[in-house]
Amino acid sequence: MLEVREIHTYYGDSHVLQGVSFEVNKGEVVCLLGRNGAGKTTTMRSVMGVVPPREGKITFLGEETTGLPPYRMVKKGMAYVPEDRRVFPDLTVEENLEVAYIAARREGRWNVEVILELFPMLNRLRNRKAGHLSGGEQQLMVIARALMANPAMLILDEPCEGLAPIIVEELEGVIMEIRQEVTILLAEQNAPFALRVSHRGYVIEKGRIKFHGTTKELMENQEIQSRYLAL
Ligand SMILES: Nc1ncnc2c1ncn2[C@@H]1O[C@H](COP(=O)(O)OP(=O)(O)OP(=O)(O)O)[C@@H](O)[C@H]1O
Ligand SMILES: [Mg+2]
Repeated sequence: MLEVREIHTYYGDSHVLQGVSFEVNKGEVVCLLGRNGAGKTTTMRSVMGVVPPREGKITFLGEETTGLPPYRMVKKGMAYVPEDRRVFPDLTVEENLEVAYIAARREGRWNVEVILELFPMLNRLRNRKAGHLSGGEQQLMVIARALMANPAMLILDEPCEGLAPIIVEELEGVIMEIRQEVTILLAEQNAPFALRVSHRGYVIEKGRIKFHGTTKELMENQEIQSRYLAL
């Protein structure tokens, strides 16, 4: 579904991604693991066209998309939940979801009712203004909102960051539920969570992929665990 080949991405003169390659197949959850500053977010921004790579090639759903701007990627069926999540604070949870549905204009399975059934915690808060939710609840809502676009693929940048354990649990349930239908690329520092929900993973360090394998292989590799995952 997504194929990234040898991409090099810069911020000004700073050469951050130094030949990153990976792929995500339809129906997979793939995680990108790595410490602070390893290049996880830059990889996601490169795929979305927020920071286009200077070299290399990105293919999404069989078409080359290298350098396409984010709105074109969204139209093609890519949804992206960045690290800094924004809600419409004066709209209710339900209204936030409806706005996303109208904006996306992509037919598919997800609509407000289906989504709220999937997120019981949000369902209980459906009439509350998003600005009055806790940070963790807002985070869940932004993920729910991304699904409203009926994406073929969902990119989540550190979805667990700052979440209370009970919200992480809800998120885990949601991912296990939707992974039958949506292909997911996930960046995480919370390796135990990532390894529970993913099929495969890549370890990135200093802008290069250092290791990849199935989650089982990642979990069984002592060196990877101690050097990169700090479990
Ligand atoms: N806007 C920017 N301008 C210049 N350098 C940046 C910018 N954003 C990130 N960097 C640098 O690029 C490198 C990779 O950062 P990136 O944000 O991709 O890492 P990350 O793996 O997402 O880290 P984290 O876990 O902290 O989110 C780091 O050295 C960082 O300092
Ligand atoms: Mg990041």
